Amino acid sequence: MGTLFLKLAALYFLIGVGMGLTMEIIGDHRLMGAHAHINLVGWASMGLFGAIYVLFPKAGESTLAKYHFWLYNISLPLFMLGLSFLLLGNESLMLLLQIFPNVLVLAVILFVINVFQNVKAADVARHLHRDKGA
Ligand code: HEM
Ligand code: HEM
Repeated sequence: MGTLFLKLAALYFLIGVGMGLTMEIIGDHRLMGAHAHINLVGWASMGLFGAIYVLFPKAGESTLAKYHFWLYNISLPLFMLGLSFLLLGNESLMLLLQIFPNVLVLAVILFVINVFQNVKAADVARHLHRDKGA
């Protein structure tokens, strides 16, 4: 799932900085919380997941990685949508905020289990070993 995580991370980065720029231009910072989390939970954290999963293919290709990927990427946009509504003073999507931050944390728990089970120095991506020997 490594490269998929990296692609989505890049997309979240674009959305995050686009949002920051828009907030600055229109002089309305109410969505700051969503902007901060899109950049940090979207771009920064997903970029790290991607890098770890590319570096450690055993972790990146495990079933845990698939559940981690899908739970994370279903919950994050719905969490951000609910949060954005709330920050703008509209409470009609509170249900999203009652459910999806929990699903996101569940995805992170799967990530942690995956790292502990499948990230081992001996399994680091083969091409890195090759480069080292060259
Ligand atoms: C073009 C790029 C960006 C622009 C124009 C921008 C703009 C903004 C603006 C206007 C705020 C609200 C500040 C306030 O009301 O106090 C903000 C807050 C924030 N931004 Fe950005 N941002 C950009 C990129 C990023 C990136 C790349 C990250 C993280 C990787 C980031 C993380 C944050 C965080 C964490 C906050 C909340 C800060 C706090 O708690 O006071 N931003 N940004
Ligand atoms: C399920 C995951 C998460 C939840 C439910 C969550 C929730 C929150 C809450 C309730 C606040 C306080 C907002 C306020 O007082 O207005 C906050 C702020 C913040 N969080 Fe998170 N957070 C999560 C994950 C993360 C992660 C993974 C990062 C960084 C990688 C992060 C970075 C920040 C930062 C920088 C702030 C201060 C900026 C702001 O007020 O928006 N959060 N978060």
